[in-house]
Amino acid sequence: MTTDLEHLRSDLLASIDAASGLDALEALRVHALGKQGAITGLLKTLGGMSPEERQEQGPRIHGLREAVTAALTERKASLERLALDARLASETLDMTLPVDAVPAGSVHPVSQVMDELAEIFADLGFAVATGPEIEDDWHNFTALNIPETHPARAMHDTFYFPETEGDARKMLLRTHTSPVQIRTMLAAGGDKPIRIIAPGRTYRSDSDATHTPMFHQVEGLVIDKGITLGHLKWTLETFLKAFFERDDIVLRLRPSYFPFTEPSAEVDVGFSVVNGKRVIGGSEGWMEVLGSGMVHRKVIEAGGYDPDQWQGFAFGCGIDRLAMLKYGMDDLRAFFDGDLRWLRHYGFSALDVPTLSGGVGA
Ligand code: PHE
Repeated sequence: MTTDLEHLRSDLLASIDAASGLDALEALRVHALGKQGAITGLLKTLGGMSPEERQEQGPRIHGLREAVTAALTERKASLERLALDARLASETLDMTLPVDAVPAGSVHPVSQVMDELAEIFADLGFAVATGPEIEDDWHNFTALNIPETHPARAMHDTFYFPETEGDARKMLLRTHTSPVQIRTMLAAGGDKPIRIIAPGRTYRSDSDATHTPMFHQVEGLVIDKGITLGHLKWTLETFLKAFFERDDIVLRLRPSYFPFTEPSAEVDVGFSVVNGKRVIGGSEGWMEVLGSGMVHRKVIEAGGYDPDQWQGFAFGCGIDRLAMLKYGMDDLRAFFDGDLRWLRHYGFSALDVPTLSGGVGA
């Protein structure tokens, strides 16, 4: 009996040690400790033994069961570790990529032109201001001297939001960057000079080769004492010469009408024809590039300034149009198609930051 137990013990421990996998190990467990198992069978014999015999054999059989159970547990843990190691080794993912396989991104012409504008105007002492694209009717129209019944509202093809209960304000997508004039004045508190440009997205319900429902404008605003049309003209001339990088830029200010400026002027830039193409510079023909004027008294007042003491000028200009004129694109819709070929062709290197000394033309 004793030697039988010893045999069984060494056989089982050797098999457990040699078990090749978790399934084989489970089969061994059933073989030893299952309902019909060898050790289970031995435990059952204890009942038929004399008390003396049981006292001798009991601890042996229980000891065998414990040793086998411990060996099974240990082997199971080490097989599981091996299985995990094998899985980890086979499931690696190489996160590194060769550098030249990653296509370089490019800066969109609109972003490039915005950077150029900020650089040029920073040199003239203008800060960059911003305002929300989801605007209320008051900032977009009323405060800009466009009351409810004004026909200019109809001209703007505005995207309105459905009215919300409990909110008296009519919300809309701003149709121009001019509401930033009002926001900047109100934030300044009515007692200090202002010089800002406000580039950003604007929206009108319009779509063809030269109009997209979303487009970009840049607003300019100067508020100070003793500001005249002369300051406006000099500023625009200086800006356009720097932007187009030519000294032969000729401006023509045409009397016009905007509710928020008085007097108002539309600004044309002269072009010449080179190889059948229009090029900015010279004065063979005129191209309209921006709207401008002296800030209306009512607008200065809505901005919290005293119009008897403070004057100013403002201008607004399509950024997409500026980009088209400078870099020679002819379809505005391509700007927003997200076509990588177009971006590769017209985009700018991210390292090509516009600076006045380096030439803002990139
Ligand atoms: N907001 C005008 C437009 O969108 C442009 C403008 C701005 C005109 C400032 C005059 C002064 O057409």
